[in-house]
Amino acid sequence: MAKKTIDDVEVQGQTVLMRVDFNVPLDEQQNITDDLRIRMALPSIRSVVDRGGRLVLISHLGRPKGDASDSALSLKPVAARLGQMLNQDVLFAEDTVGDAARACVSRLADGDVVVLENLRFDAREKKGDEGFAKSLAGFADIYCNNAFGTCHRSDASMVAVPLAMGDKPKVVGLLVAEEIRYLSDAIASPRRPFVAVLGGAKVSDKIGVIRNLLNICDSVLVGGAMAYTFSLSQGGKVGGSLVEADKVGLAQELLQAGGDKLMLPVDCHCGDAFSADCARQIVVAGEIPDDYQGLDIGPKTAEQFAEVIGGAGTVVWNGPMGVFEMPPFDQGTRAVAEAIARGDSISIIGGGDSAAAIEQFGLADRVSHVSTGGGASLAMLEGKTFAAVELLDNV
Ligand code: 3PG
Ligand code: MG
Repeated sequence: MAKKTIDDVEVQGQTVLMRVDFNVPLDEQQNITDDLRIRMALPSIRSVVDRGGRLVLISHLGRPKGDASDSALSLKPVAARLGQMLNQDVLFAEDTVGDAARACVSRLADGDVVVLENLRFDAREKKGDEGFAKSLAGFADIYCNNAFGTCHRSDASMVAVPLAMGDKPKVVGLLVAEEIRYLSDAIASPRRPFVAVLGGAKVSDKIGVIRNLLNICDSVLVGGAMAYTFSLSQGGKVGGSLVEADKVGLAQELLQAGGDKLMLPVDCHCGDAFSADCARQIVVAGEIPDDYQGLDIGPKTAEQFAEVIGGAGTVVWNGPMGVFEMPPFDQGTRAVAEAIARGDSISIIGGGDSAAAIEQFGLADRVSHVSTGGGASLAMLEGKTFAAVELLDNV
């Protein structure tokens, strides 16, 4: 069922409580190292500001432990960066539902924006607490979920807050609408051939995704450390590669279910240590020497994968092919990214590492969609629905 978006509601003079996912990576000095999630939230933020709404932004940042280390997880630097992007003053409230937040919210004029402090500084957020939700809902006339990266969570701000809004409008933001359009709708009726490229460290993280995509894709290409668990399950030699020995049975089961659809690497780029300057070898898959570990797919695999990707109508990519942060073990991931960018398929890049990789290679603007969700995009590719979206108003 299509959801009402923020563009569908009148916001002039109204206070909009927008849940965003400003969970951005920070360095040790609290500098934002990747602002994709803030940039992607801008169209919905502008939609409210430009039409004279009063905007209250709420988000979590990291996973605060309730000790002194938490100060590093303040949203203050994020509010400052947002102000630069919007080219207007953005208020920051030093708490979430306390005196500071109440004062800031009551001070808002039409077109103003305030960012409240990290939701998870209050333990009631993770507990889905109703009292906490009531306080937040009490700030606003309209609720908007624009936090795609958090849509798989049932934290208070995602579920209890929209419920506490009662009959007031509860809508999706434009980012959530777009993520659903790609990660759910495009996959439900894909242009074929439909190719999935899955990588990353663990089979166990991707079981649900592999199962779901094997049902709907024409080919599923598997790389990353995950491939070594598959190799092990076929009796291959994996040396010191990262494997999940307890998932070998599962890998066999997936191989059987996948049949010809499931493509595994035919060769491997391995090294004698986890470092950029280790001794390196290209070997046939399943023949990794004892003192070596697999760190990337090999060149033959990269070529085969690129060919399948080149012929695709739709490509979904989630998870790197190797240690892309550590050249020369970025080559397989790069080959996949370039093949996707070169092709004319509808191309959907899952969040997390694959989004970071496509950004690192400078190819993000040559794909159809880069998801802002890590866990959320995986959940969506597993075919799951989200309570945080389901309960919002339908068109
Ligand atoms: C993410 O980065 O995956 C989202 O912001 C959700 O964060 P969480 O995994 O800590 O709930
Ligand atoms: Mg996460």
